[in-house]
Amino acid sequence: MYTPESVGTPLSDNATTVLLLGSGELGREVTFALQRLGVEVHAADRYEGAPAHHTANYAHVLDMTDGEQVRELVERVRPDFVVPEIESLATKELERLEEEGLATVIPTARAARLTMDREGIRDLAYHELGLPTSAYAYASSYDELYQGAEEVGYPCVVKPIMSSSGKGQSYVANADELSGAWEYAMSGARVSNQRVIVEQFIPFDYEITLLTIRSIAPETDRDATWFCEPIGHRQDRGDYVESWQPAAMSETALDNARSVAARITNELGGRGVFGVELFVKGDDVYFSEVSPRPHDTGMVTMATQRFSEFDLHARAILGLPIDSTLVSPGASAVIYGVDSDGPVSFSGLADAMSVPETDVRLFGKPESFSRRRMGVAISTAEDVAQGRERAVSAAERVKVNPS
Ligand SMILES: Nc1ncnc2c1ncn2[C@@H]1O[C@H](COP(=O)(O)OP(=O)(O)O)[C@@H](O)[C@H]1O
Ligand SMILES: [Mg+2]
Repeated sequence: MYTPESVGTPLSDNATTVLLLGSGELGREVTFALQRLGVEVHAADRYEGAPAHHTANYAHVLDMTDGEQVRELVERVRPDFVVPEIESLATKELERLEEEGLATVIPTARAARLTMDREGIRDLAYHELGLPTSAYAYASSYDELYQGAEEVGYPCVVKPIMSSSGKGQSYVANADELSGAWEYAMSGARVSNQRVIVEQFIPFDYEITLLTIRSIAPETDRDATWFCEPIGHRQDRGDYVESWQPAAMSETALDNARSVAARITNELGGRGVFGVELFVKGDDVYFSEVSPRPHDTGMVTMATQRFSEFDLHARAILGLPIDSTLVSPGASAVIYGVDSDGPVSFSGLADAMSVPETDVRLFGKPESFSRRRMGVAISTAEDVAQGRERAVSAAERVKVNPS
């Protein structure tokens, strides 16, 4: 049984164990961070050779949306912590396992369930907490979508309730474009016969991720909340391509952002890193969504912070103190894959690393396709503008070669 005063020995009977559900690039970094603290990591995913599988102590392959398979794995591993890395999981089963005392889910099983689709978290933010959000409606048919779009007004954004990385998401300028958006949402949804959300388009000045951490404060021995410096990012077709830290904000906007982030993360509870996505217009802040786990745009913190979001997640999981200090401005830029029948190779690394203060991370994904995130370039610099130039330039220098 884990307590913050005692971490066991990996690969032994008293190991402190984490079961990661989802083993992508973010999970891989969480694995490194946990292992540096002496934690034994079990990494699970639906396919073999996922990024965290390469590095965890044990790799598991299963359908993580299947409650029986998840229960079987939890009962076999008996981890101290179950750490979701993705949204699409058997979250109801996780809630049952948590109730039965068989799993401590990070941050909580309820948070995993509420953020599994856009509906739970949006209704909580808007109806329960009264947070500012875009106007929105749900639809299960084209007719309902038409009604919803009329209510929220044009332009609007249509997204499957269950999707990520911009899949199935479209910007709709007027009613003529609505049927195309409906078709696209149906094709991009994670499961068939999906509901969609239609949101009023917010013409924001910029958007940020506010990494918010809940752990135990050593001074009080109670739960406390920490914030990282805001991360700015640029999305292309709903997927992050570039991020930087710190994002320049007015004091008032930053206060508002922290207040929104504190309210949503307090409500979700538990311990861990949260990526709170916010739209900012002037001093006004709109809640968009929240990941109860490290965020892809937060990969920049591997360069910019004394402790990356992954280190902080590991600490928070274990209930240890948090230090969210920024040590340098910096930026990240995504390295995308190409279509390939077999494993790809990467060239141009030396060229990329000749960019000052720059590092490259390759995720080791067994399959590549166009627009799949295969790696990231991260840079520090005097200021954010220079950091962005460096990271983008380095990412461009890495060539992904199909086989
Ligand atoms: N209502 C909106 N108004 C303006 N831009 C939006 C809106 N919803 C989404 N976006 C843009 O699309 C991106 C992805 O949307 P998001 O809801 O975060 O989907 P995902 O879960 O796929 O990340 C956002 O980061 C933002 O740039
Ligand atoms: Mg998002």
